[in-house]
Amino acid sequence: MKVLIIGSGGREYSIGYALKKDDNVDKIYFAPGNGATPKLGENINIKDFNELANFAKENEINLTIVGPEDPLVNGIVDVFKEQGLTIFGPSKAAAQLEGSKVFMKNALKKYDVPTAKYIETTSLEEAKEFISTMSEPIVVKADGLCAGKGVIIAQSKDEAIEAASGMLSGESFGEAGTKIIIEEYLDGYELSIFAVCDGKDYVVLPAAQDHKRVGDGDTGPNTGGMGAYAPTPLVNDEIYKKVRERVIEPTLKGLEADGMPYSGVLFIGIMVVDGEPIVLEYNVRFGDPECEELMVLLKTPASELFMGAATGNLANTNIEFEDKYAVGVVVASKNYPYSSSEPAEIIIDEIVDEDLAKNSYIAYAGVSQDEDGKLLATGGRVLVCVGLGSSIKEARDRAYMLVGQVHFIGKKCRMDIAYQALKD
Ligand code: AMP
Ligand code: GLY
Repeated sequence: MKVLIIGSGGREYSIGYALKKDDNVDKIYFAPGNGATPKLGENINIKDFNELANFAKENEINLTIVGPEDPLVNGIVDVFKEQGLTIFGPSKAAAQLEGSKVFMKNALKKYDVPTAKYIETTSLEEAKEFISTMSEPIVVKADGLCAGKGVIIAQSKDEAIEAASGMLSGESFGEAGTKIIIEEYLDGYELSIFAVCDGKDYVVLPAAQDHKRVGDGDTGPNTGGMGAYAPTPLVNDEIYKKVRERVIEPTLKGLEADGMPYSGVLFIGIMVVDGEPIVLEYNVRFGDPECEELMVLLKTPASELFMGAATGNLANTNIEFEDKYAVGVVVASKNYPYSSSEPAEIIIDEIVDEDLAKNSYIAYAGVSQDEDGKLLATGGRVLVCVGLGSSIKEARDRAYMLVGQVHFIGKKCRMDIAYQALKD
């Protein structure tokens, strides 16, 4: 089969990496891909949804997989489906779960899914009134997509009012911030749970934990994610059961009843507070860097998972995972997440250790190729070193061994990925 992957990050690289090992897959295209995706397939430079759909038809693409949220929120799935094409991802209507935090919070409330107490508002007066009744810290969120920057955890009421005012005036995030959510702060540990859905049935993948802050010990500003691991021992059967019964099932039933059955991957950001899973947010795509670990834990050929979901056939697909752990360490460039860095050549040492070679891989993200074919670090998150192992410690050690093989000027990474699982 021929597969088209939309996106250009480490997440899309890792999906391509899993499909490359799959005997059912003959050819992979990336639109637009990055400087390393040509190792796995062919990059095509088309952005317009109708042109992409034409490309898929002309090239007899059997399955298109959408990586990032932007094309989903802008309706790529609807365009492909109108043309009779098979595509993995939610419709534009269902993608509002990520496209609008107000839509998401109202859906959670309507379907009776546990979430932080909140108000939605467009008025600074109303915001101030609610803030005055809250205890600190206070969370202020812009409604629309803000490339991961639209959430402020304010330590004081004044700071919360300042954040709300900046958003509502359009100063902070333009249109995306003119409606806001103000919500209570949840104190617990955070998990990423992914349910792959086909409109009727769903499969829960091994729970992952991301590390959002840039610095060791969870310090510094939020990033897209500095490293993740799965499965995390912070989830037990009881939490999985609660997430299925209180979160996934009512959400899927509610969306179906509201005329927008969900297919694709539902990314549930959970805060576990005193053993209770509470939904922080939904995203409508795989997490990055969580996807990089999940793709190597998948035992079933990846095409079966994606095709099963895209064709409403998950009930007849047996999805299995390796009885292993995966740890991914993001290697970023010097100024991430503050500003861009100068392009730097990436050198990867030959991996002579057979054990390491067999149990690790690099998912390339912010990279491009120069005219001589040299690989350059050009993005904030440059690549993800993923280690596999029979324990989290073994997987983590391999991931860091791989990090040691990667060289470029300004390289930086967190040194404590998976620390919550390795405490004591
Ligand atoms: P979001 O984009 O909603 O996931 O928010 C980004 C990050 O902010 C989350 O991953 C959490 O770490 C944090 N966050 C969001 N909402 C809350 C909340 N109500 N309480 C505590 N932390 C939160
Ligand atoms: N790693 C978190 C995200 O993709 O939003």
